[in-house]
Amino acid sequence: MTIGAGPDGPGVLVIEPMGNAGRFLVEAADRLGLRLYAATRKDIYDGYPDRLRSALAGVCATDLADTPTALADMQAFCRRHAIAGVAACFELFTPLAALLAQRLGLPGNDPLLARAARNKILMGEAFAAAGIPAPRWAVVHEAGEAHEVAQSRELGRPLVVKPAEQGGSWGVSVVDGPEQLAPAVEAALQYTHAHPHGLKLDARALVQEYIPGEEYSCETVVAGGVAYPLPVVRKDTTEGRYRIETGHTCPSGLAPPLVRKVQHIAARAALAVGVRNGIAHTEVKIPPGTQTPYVIETGARLPGDNLCEIVEAATGVNEAVAYLQAVLGRVPDTAASRTDAAAIRFLLPERGGVLRQAFIPEMPGTHGEFHLRPGDVVPEPADSSCRIGHVVARAETVDQARRLADQVAARSRVEVG
Ligand SMILES: Nc1ncnc2c1ncn2[C@@H]1O[C@H](COP(=O)(O)OP(=O)(O)O)[C@@H](O)[C@H]1O
Ligand SMILES: [Mg+2]
Repeated sequence: MTIGAGPDGPGVLVIEPMGNAGRFLVEAADRLGLRLYAATRKDIYDGYPDRLRSALAGVCATDLADTPTALADMQAFCRRHAIAGVAACFELFTPLAALLAQRLGLPGNDPLLARAARNKILMGEAFAAAGIPAPRWAVVHEAGEAHEVAQSRELGRPLVVKPAEQGGSWGVSVVDGPEQLAPAVEAALQYTHAHPHGLKLDARALVQEYIPGEEYSCETVVAGGVAYPLPVVRKDTTEGRYRIETGHTCPSGLAPPLVRKVQHIAARAALAVGVRNGIAHTEVKIPPGTQTPYVIETGARLPGDNLCEIVEAATGVNEAVAYLQAVLGRVPDTAASRTDAAAIRFLLPERGGVLRQAFIPEMPGTHGEFHLRPGDVVPEPADSSCRIGHVVARAETVDQARRLADQVAARSRVEVG
């Protein structure tokens, strides 16, 4: 690992660090001796947790939803603070980060392809052009078009309906019968602007072929156009109409040749959407009886869901460090230094309401964290915003880590009234 020159080391501007990966970027910047700056809106900055606010060397207050203004403000800020790298923490701002890096002459992603990493319609086109295995899809503007797609049977059954630009499983439905189609399209079309910046979204929806099988994710760090694969993680989700991630485990438990295939296809997906100096989080499913990973999506950002913590606990690879190294034009440090295992389990409510009580027992080798507090509104379990908290377990083997995390989750209590 390259150790930086202390707090006077190079500066990196993070475009909206408030997501899950923000805290890992803060730790990584500290390890590398970098100055970390944020670009965000003033009122959003005011709501940052104290530990994030105090870790920042400065803030570029701007309107990230207004691209020309944001670019001009950030460009001036970067010149003033001698910024040497630009990172995006929020998927929707990855195209903005690519444009800013280009303007400043800093290492970044291909601005012409960058939108394909946030927009699932452009992403589907990029994957098709690169010959990457991915679900077949159709674009729909309203339920009638989705009915036509379903009736043609060209995409098979069930179908997946999702927004063109969203994350966290928001508005994603697996649809098995015609009566579920109209509500699914309505759920996917509801997102016209993204919270909290008010960024305008492509409000079209996709209808996709359903890919069966186990699901995995894999980050790829790319530096100077060279792809370095990171560890593969197994993903658990709910079944049925809403697919919410319920947990992740690293290592994946896949046989080494299949691990390499997942890493290879994830790297191809990252390159196909223009990642050149940065990181991509790619999700794949492997249909039973095949050795072919199908790419569900990729994003030019660090993973959420505390995956940075899980991957580092299991392998010693710090993905946030590797990302910052890539945006600074350095060779990323991707060598594993451990062969342990780690698992995370999310606590989900059975229904929406108000959180009355929540309890996570203490067990050696585990730690828990709450996302919501008693009195908070718990959304219906239709996307990841309903999560009450999580438990992380560390152990020597995958089976032990999964078992430990499952035990703690089973003994945890969530009361929603
Ligand atoms: N075409 C598909 N086939 C099978 N499952 C899918 C498909 N698309 C999405 N899913 C399931 O829904 C989840 C959320 O969809 P995804 O496209 O990853 O949206 P988001 O950007 O909200 O994470 C995936 O992790 C996967 O479990
Ligand atoms: Mg996803």
